[in-house]
Amino acid sequence: MPRLELIYLGLGIAGVTAAPTAPAATPLKVISFAQTPNGFQGPARGWNSFALQANPNTAPDFQFDQSHVLTQCSVLASGSFKGQYDTCSLDSGWSVGDHGDDNGRLIYDDSIFDIPSLASSLHSQGLKMGVYVVPGAFISDANKTILGTETTIGEVCTGNEGLLRCIFDYTRPETQDWHNSVVDQFASWGVDFVKLDFVTPGSPDNGQSLPADQSGSVIAWHNAIKNSGRQMRLDISWKLDRTQTYFDIWNSNADSMRTDQDLNNSGSSTLVSWGTVQRAIDNYRQWIIAGLQFFDELNIYPDMDNLAVGSPESISGLSDGQRTTVMTHWIGAGANLITGNDMTQLDDLGTNLLTNAQALQVAAFTAQYPMQPRNPGSGGQDATQLQAWIAGPSPSGEAVVVLVNLGPDNGQGGFGTQTSGVQTVTATWQDLGLSGQFNVQDIWNNKSLGVVGDQVSAQLDEGASVLLHLTSA
Ligand SMILES: *[C@@H]1O[C@H](CO)[C@@H](O)[C@H](O)[C@H]1NC(C)=O
Ligand SMILES: *[C@@H]1O[C@H](CO)[C@@H](O)[C@H](O)[C@H]1NC(C)=O
Ligand SMILES: *[C@@H]1O[C@H](CO)[C@@H](O)[C@H](O)[C@H]1NC(C)=O
Repeated sequence: MPRLELIYLGLGIAGVTAAPTAPAATPLKVISFAQTPNGFQGPARGWNSFALQANPNTAPDFQFDQSHVLTQCSVLASGSFKGQYDTCSLDSGWSVGDHGDDNGRLIYDDSIFDIPSLASSLHSQGLKMGVYVVPGAFISDANKTILGTETTIGEVCTGNEGLLRCIFDYTRPETQDWHNSVVDQFASWGVDFVKLDFVTPGSPDNGQSLPADQSGSVIAWHNAIKNSGRQMRLDISWKLDRTQTYFDIWNSNADSMRTDQDLNNSGSSTLVSWGTVQRAIDNYRQWIIAGLQFFDELNIYPDMDNLAVGSPESISGLSDGQRTTVMTHWIGAGANLITGNDMTQLDDLGTNLLTNAQALQVAAFTAQYPMQPRNPGSGGQDATQLQAWIAGPSPSGEAVVVLVNLGPDNGQGGFGTQTSGVQTVTATWQDLGLSGQFNVQDIWNNKSLGVVGDQVSAQLDEGASVLLHLTSA
């Protein structure tokens, strides 16, 4: 009824004009990273094959085989990448997909890879080798005996988890023996990095009927890596459960964990879309908020999935400003910096984003102190279009601040008010939980903002951001 609507409208307007002043921001809880379960002090950096496998039209010359992978990864050992990016990570497809060897251990597909020779070639260039696995042994290997035991795989592994694998009984010691036998073989080949995909709870909407809880696989892989005596990273995937029970398990067994779904753009001619990036950034926000609740120090790095920043918009699907924003957020988060581009086709911006010396100094800092959201105007932690982030400060007064205009959301971002076009994003020291005077350096613009004692501000187009490095003044 019109009259009621008018009354309602009147109240609404009164509510807006009398908006209360923003509540004082809560004190900043500084969270840091400590050594990971397999002994790492920073996130992985390198290249992974998934994006090119999933989007072959972005790299027509690429095939998933030894020589093409070596061509990609050799770039990591040269120029400005050398010494900064080292991990050459194979995604799904390197191993035989339906059976293992006589003991049910994984074997490589020797029509496309000779893994020991690939590892030795990578190692001779100062690089590391990564492989991809999923939980479970093959159903077709049920009658094979687990190495060093008299137990068959079928006696400790039953049911169908999808993906042609059976579901292990993780309480059986022979289950650990199987993992040890696989990882010992990986160690003898020279494997340095293991991506364990399809872990639950997590991996939603995977098109498989995975068992609800495969967290035992993460513990078994971790124990097998420890047992092998070779240092390897364990990267678990994807969009893993963030409740405390499981976060504790991931945090004490894996070195990095995927915070979101895949950043693919299946069916499209580009690697990723901006809406997917908004979703990934928001999933990191949720992840670090959970981390802040449960931990003072995290022993696990976020994996925000492969970076698609190396190539121009026609390939990456992101404008130059958006590419910069992706790199800024992945650095700010202390996330794995694993590129997904065709490394032989990087443009100048892509190379600079990935290897800029000052940005990598910031990455060294955020490998100790991940960023957390502090909303402009309130210091809250909500998903907002105009966002501010703070990493640190460290005891010596070093910190990183990110300001971003994420643009109107894609329906998944959950932003409240949304505005198109250029916006001014301002974060006061109070919003950020800071106090005192800082020298502020704008990293991507290579520009000093001098000594600042109250706030930082930037005019940012949709998708644009600034990465600021603060040192105590
Ligand atoms: C295992 O052996 C049994 C008995 O010979 C047979 O019936 C079954 O099909 C075999 N299973 C597999 C996966 O080979
Ligand atoms: C990407 O991958 C996920 C999971 O594999 C899939 O569900 C989705 O349809 C793919 N495409 C996009 C655009 O995310
Ligand atoms: C950054 O600016 C300084 C001068 O302020 C200059 O010496 C340096 O070469 C610049 N670095 C880059 C990467 O452009």
